[in-house]
Amino acid sequence: MLGAGVMGSGIAQVCALAGDEVACYDVTPAALDDARAHVTTGRFGLDGAVARGKVTRKQADDALARLTFTTSFEEAAATDLVIEAVPERLELKVRVFRDLDRLAPPQTILASNTSGLPIAAFAAATDRPDRVIGWHWASPAPVMKLAEIVVTSETSDSTIARVVDAATRCGKRPIVVKDNPMQWGFVANRVYFAMVREAQRVVDEEIATRADVDQLMMDCFRWPSGPFGMVAGAGSGWT
Ligand SMILES: NC(=O)c1ccc[n+]([C@@H]2O[C@H](COP(=O)([O-])OP(=O)(O)OC[C@H]3O[C@@H](n4cnc5c(N)ncnc54)[C@H](O)[C@@H]3O)[C@@H](O)[C@H]2O)c1
Repeated sequence: MLGAGVMGSGIAQVCALAGDEVACYDVTPAALDDARAHVTTGRFGLDGAVARGKVTRKQADDALARLTFTTSFEEAAATDLVIEAVPERLELKVRVFRDLDRLAPPQTILASNTSGLPIAAFAAATDRPDRVIGWHWASPAPVMKLAEIVVTSETSDSTIARVVDAATRCGKRPIVVKDNPMQWGFVANRVYFAMVREAQRVVDEEIATRADVDQLMMDCFRWPSGPFGMVAGAGSGWT
């Protein structure tokens, strides 16, 4: 797991609960301390899952025992499936994929949790484009079912099958979609941000406040949160 922020810590928690050994990497020890707190005592962490009866104490303890938090990139790369969740900056992610390609074993699959950057750009940064794929999660990762699996024309069938299987074992509902480098956002975020843009237009036209737009959308469509609430929640991890 590369990047132990809002998404990376939650993804690491889910994968460890599913039975995988996970090395969770971040650039600073402070980020890893925060990640460990998220995973244990955070709102969607393991202690809460035990308290709510979602998992047993033993399952939670076993998951924690499978999780290591590390500032060693090499350690995180030494696995059969790496999930990248560093900040949403194209040049940073391309650099990370280049480094991963150099250090990870040849068979290792490199997956990105990008919200919508082109998977083809990451594949092109490697000598293993058949083993590069998008695996887009939603926040909070321990709760949301989303597994938007994004494939390029070069992603191999065996890579797709391996990641679909991993997502299923994590309790998610994988849906395979095509990468489109000309459009940010794959499917979920293209449709979602079209709605957010229209919500902002309504506010700019002074037709309604942000709070009123949120409430109307919740009342009309039974959404758990309105568009502006969703943007805020995604940034904070719904803490
Ligand atoms: N927040 C959401 O709701 C959400 C949902 C789906 C996908 N995403 C995507 O997930 C990715 C991460 O988002 P986030 O919300 O977890 O961000 P975040 O800022 O909470 O976490 C990013 C982490 O990456 C670390 N980092 C920075 N440079 C790094 C490097 N070179 N190597 C390793 N770690 C590094 C940071 O220290 C930080 O802990 C982004 O691509 C984002 O678009 C976010």
